[in-house]
Amino acid sequence: MKQTKLGQSNVHVSAMTVGCWAFGGGEYWGAQSQQDVDTVVHSALDHGVNTFDTAEVYNAGESERSLGLALKGRRDRAVIISKIAPSNCHDVRKHCLASLQRLGTDYLDVYMLHWPINKLSVEHFTHDTTHDTTTPTIESAYAQLAELKSEGRIRAIGMSNFGRRQMQEVAATGVPVDVNELTYNIISRAIEAEIVPYCTQNQISIIGSMGLQQGVLSGKYRTPGEIRPHQAHSRHFPEHRGKGTSRHGEPGAETEVFQVVSQLREIAARLRIETAQLAIAWILKKSFIASTLVGSRNLETLKSNIAACELQIPDEIEAEIDRLSQPVLALLGNSPDYYEHSSKSRIY
Ligand SMILES: NC(=O)c1ccc[n+]([C@@H]2O[C@H](COP(=O)([O-])OP(=O)(O)OC[C@H]3O[C@@H](n4cnc5c(N)ncnc54)[C@H](OP(=O)(O)O)[C@@H]3O)[C@@H](O)[C@H]2O)c1
Repeated sequence: MKQTKLGQSNVHVSAMTVGCWAFGGGEYWGAQSQQDVDTVVHSALDHGVNTFDTAEVYNAGESERSLGLALKGRRDRAVIISKIAPSNCHDVRKHCLASLQRLGTDYLDVYMLHWPINKLSVEHFTHDTTHDTTTPTIESAYAQLAELKSEGRIRAIGMSNFGRRQMQEVAATGVPVDVNELTYNIISRAIEAEIVPYCTQNQISIIGSMGLQQGVLSGKYRTPGEIRPHQAHSRHFPEHRGKGTSRHGEPGAETEVFQVVSQLREIAARLRIETAQLAIAWILKKSFIASTLVGSRNLETLKSNIAACELQIPDEIEAEIDRLSQPVLALLGNSPDYYEHSSKSRIY
């Protein structure tokens, strides 16, 4: 499997990264057995997928713990990405050490801020009313990350969900950052407008998250009503689909989304591949993507997703998908925050 060096670091990530959000089990993704996690992690490593993406908030630390268990004895073969919540940036060291302990390792390959530090994103990550609400600053967060890197606890520093102005603020701290991780898939293309050009010009690699838009692009849902509320609370869907989990207040674009999925199904059938594989192969056609994150939680989906990374879809198919996804892009606009109303984006 192809590997790409992140920014100016020495960290090389595989074209696909295993998204570990479901690991450990929890409300958002449901139950997950450690046996399946072990099988997925070992099989991924055996097939050249070396990168695993987790975060301290995924299942309240259980995703990190589960990944750490699975990597026992093979940690040196893996690239581990973890993230700190913006609400925890007062004390980056404390949270980094806790992640290391849960993962059972003494270094992280990439450590990133999960979201930029601003009022809305900090509030989103903490419901603790006793929490210190004085917003930690970007300067202090990145200075702490630089210190941890100089001690060898982190190999590369990253950011996640940072827009152009926010990346400029990080650049002004003087701390080199090698990667930005943001949502990117056929129906979530907002980063193409400003973020991709900035990252390309500034040698910041891009890791695209939610390669399958939480399963929608696998074609497994025939109607919007089949999607569980947690997976339907983005701006792609009207507020009511999220059943209490949505907060964006926008009308969504579900008719257009399902038109895209139906056309993808037809193209995939023509190419004799799975719809999910087509969605992954399209992302990997984009030269600005270092790695695509896909949530693979059992051997069957992992194998299919690995096979997708070896597919080379023709340029005409890529162009056709670029065209057919335009109506969704036009309706959702260039705001890369798919969870807040476009006028309240946490990414700018
Ligand atoms: N930085 C950030 O803010 C951020 C945000 C979101 C996600 N992420 C990262 O990105 C990763 C991936 O995103 P995600 O897990 O949210 O969503 P995703 O990868 O877009 O989709 C996962 C869904 O796709 C289904 N799926 C996977 N492979 C499939 C296949 N071959 N055929 C059919 N269905 C398939 C899974 O089904 P099953 O459930 O049935 O297995 C699951 O429902 C996360 O795990 C996380 O590491 C980062």
